Order: sequence, then C-alpha cells, then structure tokens
Amino acid sequence: MKSAEIGLMGLGTMGAALALNIADHGFDVAVWNRTTQKTRDFHNDAGGLQDKVHPSESVEDFVAAIAKPRAIILMVPAGDPVDEQIAALRPLLDADDLIIDAGNANFHDTNRRARDAADLPYLGMGVSGGEEGARFGPSIMGGGKRAHWDRVAHILEAISAKYDGAPCATWMGEEGAGHFVKAVHNGIEYADMQMIAEAYGVMRDGLSMSPAQISLAFADWDKGALDSYLTEISGKVAAAVDPKTGKPMLDVIVDAAGQKGTGRWTVIEAQHLAAPIPAIDAAVVARNLSSQRDVRALGEALFGAAPQPMDGITLADLEGALIAGKIICYAQGFEMINKA
Ligand SMILES: NC(=O)c1ccc[n+]([C@@H]2O[C@H](COP(=O)([O-])OP(=O)(O)OC[C@H]3O[C@@H](n4cnc5c(N)ncnc54)[C@H](OP(=O)(O)O)[C@@H]3O)[C@@H](O)[C@H]2O)c1
Repeated sequence: MKSAEIGLMGLGTMGAALALNIADHGFDVAVWNRTTQKTRDFHNDAGGLQDKVHPSESVEDFVAAIAKPRAIILMVPAGDPVDEQIAALRPLLDADDLIIDAGNANFHDTNRRARDAADLPYLGMGVSGGEEGARFGPSIMGGGKRAHWDRVAHILEAISAKYDGAPCATWMGEEGAGHFVKAVHNGIEYADMQMIAEAYGVMRDGLSMSPAQISLAFADWDKGALDSYLTEISGKVAAAVDPKTGKPMLDVIVDAAGQKGTGRWTVIEAQHLAAPIPAIDAAVVARNLSSQRDVRALGEALFGAAPQPMDGITLADLEGALIAGKIICYAQGFEMINKA
C-alpha cells in the first residue's frame, strides 16, 4: 500500500474538512479518529477521494501508514486532548517526525509544548475560515522552527486560500507565534462582529427599520467596501424567519453571547504588551455584558426597554462608521502583532 504523505488525527468538523482538502490537492492522507465509527463513515463518504484517504483504526496503524519522516496534524479541541494525543503519539514516532497542532491552542500552551518537545519537531498552526475554509481554502498561520514549517509548506500552501494567487499560509515565527496570530485574528473578528451587531441595533431600535429593510441594507453594503463573508451572512441572518413562531429569527434567539476564549486571550495579552486594542476589548466586554441577563433585566426594569430614536443618522453614516471601525480594529490587531 502507498504511504500517506501526511497524517491527520481528529475527524470532527475541521479535521474532516481539512483531510478532504488535502486529498483533493492530490496528497495521500492517513486519518484516525478517537471514535472509530467516525473514521469508517468518513472514508465511506469520501466519494472520489477514497483512494487518497487512508483510514486506520489504531494509532499504531495510523503512524505506520505515513511516509517517513512523518508529519501529523492534530485537529482536536485545544487543551488536554492535544497533550493526550502528543503523549499517545511520541512513543510511536521517530526523532525527526513532526507533530502539528492545528487546533485553537492558547499560544502559551504551544510555547510550552514546543519547549517540552526540545529538539523533536513541533509546530503550532492556526487555521482560519471555519469548516468551509478548511475544506476549500483556509488561511494558515504557522509557528515553530522555520525548517519544520518548510518541510510541510508545499502541502499547506497548496490547500490554503489564495489572495491574488499568493497562498494565505505562512510561517509567523518561533513556538506559539502562529497560534498567537490566530488568536489576534479571532479578536479582530470579534470586533468586526460586534460592530455589525451594533449597526443592526441602531437600524432596529434607532431607525425603526424592519428585518427586511435591515437585510437589504447589509446586502447593499456587501456590494461596496464592506464586501465580506460577515456582511453577506448578516443580511441573510437578518432576513431569517423562525418557522415555529413566524417572528424574525433574531428576535427569538436569546441575546447572550458566549465565547471560546480567543478574543479574551487577545485582550489579556494586549494588556501584557500594553498594546491598545479598544475595539477588540469593547467586543469582548459586550459579550460578557450580554451574558449577564439577570443584571440586564434589572436595568430594564429601572430604565425601560423603549428604543431610543436616533434622528439624523442615515444608512450612509452607518456604512461609513462600519468601514472606519473595520479599519480601526484591523489596525489595532496588526499593531498588537507588531508589538509582540
Ligand atoms: N469549528 C471551527 O470553525 C473552527 C475554526 C478554526 C479552528 N477550530 C479549532 O479546531 C479544533 C477542532 O475543532 P472542531 O470544530 O473540528 O471540533 P469537533 O467538531 O468538536 O471535533 C473534535 C474532534 O476531536 C476529537 N477529540 C475530542 N477529544 C479528544 C481526545 N481527548 N482525544 C482524541 N480526540 C479527541 C473528536 O473525536 P470523537 O469523534 O471521538 O469525539 C473529534 O474528532 C479546535 O481546537 C477548534 O477550536 C475550529
């Protein structure tokens, strides 16, 4: 049997999409998942890519299926699962085999793991773009020894998104640099989303616009400088109707946001670096505030929930504010990366 050029552990949402992307670009990929049925289902559903996907039901078989020196991507939840998988793999690996953590690890953990690995090859890799990106072109931020990145760069560049023909995959620096940049990137996205939510709030409460009108405004903005995935889906989300109640979907969703942590990490690190990122900070604060529903209900009882009309604001003003806000939050994020 032909050896796989790379291995991937963890066939969840991101891992499955990334493995298919790798296979789609002509690379043979060995796969393993903790729950074996998922490995079988994944291979069965791989369609025309089945020949490129090499499923294994044990970690030993998985390691044996990969060409030496091996490269293995971990796509499991950040935290203990990563340490567990590294511990399970190391005794089976040779000294020049490379482990790549492609989950959303805290970069401090990646720094620690890189140091624990000492001379053993280890990369921490941020992957952006969600499931769709992982399947058809993620942006990839690598951290570790440059020589280790270079070993797998041809695969990672091939599967990545392209901007003006250039791959959106690069080496960011030593140890946790890739995961650091990924976290700040997520922080920027938190700010982008918060500003969209606030523009929605102004349109709904300040300008008394209907969901259909709000949807049209986003769709219109998506044709201009705000053209982006987030603007596009905001238009679709604003127009969505809850089939059970017939109400706008946004009105029936509890307005309390959680977070997986990368935005919070960004804000904490910004404080350590004395890097001012108020747009990102405000977005994390807004999420925290949103989740305090009891306190907000008390406030509503005291001050009322009546929307405040915002006379004199036009949709062009709002679009301009969003463009300015977007530039500002990107600039703050990039400046933080520069400082780090
Ligand atoms: N979803 C996104 O849009 C996105 C975007 C960028 C980055 N990420 C990051 O990518 C990573 C994976 O996310 P996901 O959305 O693909 O997660 P997911 O769909 O929940 O899949 C998690 C995968 O990890 C496996 N797993 C969980 N705990 C494990 C353990 N202790 N040992 C071994 N395998 C374990 C699961 O195996 P079982 O089948 O056995 O449960 C499953 O295959 C996370 O770090 C996430 O933050 C996600």
